[in-house]
Amino acid sequence: MDQEKIDQIIDKYAGEEGVLIQLLLDVQRELNWVPKEAVQRINERLQVPLSQIYRVASFYKSMSLEPRGRHLVNVCLGTACQVRGGPRVMDRIRDILGINPGETTQDMKFTLERVNCLGCCALGPVMLVDGEYHGKIMPAKAEEILKSYD
Ligand code: FES
Repeated sequence: MDQEKIDQIIDKYAGEEGVLIQLLLDVQRELNWVPKEAVQRINERLQVPLSQIYRVASFYKSMSLEPRGRHLVNVCLGTACQVRGGPRVMDRIRDILGINPGETTQDMKFTLERVNCLGCCALGPVMLVDGEYHGKIMPAKAEEILKSYD
């Protein structure tokens, strides 16, 4: 299944040069991560060295070489958010999801990450889910937000 998707993505860029980043972004978007199989397939079909593919995939924060859940939850624990209760929000989310930052739930629904500032400190504590900002979060509100994602 994934192999087919990977081939379809590669086919889209057939004959084009300098497409590695776009191609890897497409794989990330489609599969939620860049699996080893995709790296190998790109290497075989486009003759791009493995080292180059891994270098690009690990350089961009929007790509992951580890499985990621359908929803990416970033909780800010920068200074401003810490002071306003960020750690309590993070603890609550860890309890609800049963994972630590850097981990993904077994059902592949959520990946939890800790960040150090999301650039909107006045709204702290802040969490970001799939790119959507949620400010002035309290633990109960964080639970409500997580429940709203399928
Ligand atoms: S410290 Fe959290 S948004 Fe800046």
